[in-house]
Amino acid sequence: MSSSLRPVGLAHRAPLERLTRAAGLFREDEVAIAVELLDDSLAGDPAYRFLGAYEGDELVGYACWGPVPGTADTYDLYWLVVDPARQCSGVGTRLVEAVEHRLIGDGGRLVVVETSSLPAYAPTRAFYERRGYTRGATVPGYYAPGDDLMIYFKDLANGVLARAPA
Ligand SMILES: CC(C)(COP(=O)(O)OP(=O)(O)OC[C@H]1O[C@@H](n2cnc3c(N)ncnc32)[C@H](O)[C@@H]1OP(=O)(O)O)[C@@H](O)C(=O)NCCC(=O)NCCS
Repeated sequence: MSSSLRPVGLAHRAPLERLTRAAGLFREDEVAIAVELLDDSLAGDPAYRFLGAYEGDELVGYACWGPVPGTADTYDLYWLVVDPARQCSGVGTRLVEAVEHRLIGDGGRLVVVETSSLPAYAPTRAFYERRGYTRGATVPGYYAPGDDLMIYFKDLANGVLARAPA
């Protein structure tokens, strides 16, 4: 079944929590953060924006992103999660493309993604690299000893907006 993309409302708060936990990568405190960001978003906080992928009424994936304070039109893609049973069927790609499309519409310039160096995140890193994201930096031991922070970025305007005006 092909998925459709819609906002994530209160009715899908519990499914979002279940989905995040089911990804099998995130600690309970991280799962709680995803739900907290949705609550902030539903309360009207523009710092966090959510887009869900649905099969019928079932939430099968979501993205969460927002503007980085103190930057000129740089955005963080905070969360991207797809139901393990639906992974590798294009849902993540549709979500990322839709987020990028929205960001370009909002004047977004750079999008930044933070992920981990652990082997469990190899598919995640491959996913971003094959969708045009460049590894910009690694911070050794950031999350824990042996668990490095890997920062990826994508210039949404192919270099044009990343440069200072002449
Ligand atoms: C990363 C993720 C969002 C990708 O979503 P998806 O719906 O599986 O992605 P798509 O079907 O659009 O693309 C599949 C591609 O992702 C990668 N990939 C995703 N899951 C994979 C898996 N279990 N095994 C191998 N490759 C995988 C591959 O690069 C794959 O192949 P392709 O580049 O030849 O197309 C999803 O795997 C996921 O939710 N992972 C767990 C949570 C996570 O790591 N989130 C990002 C946190 S920073």
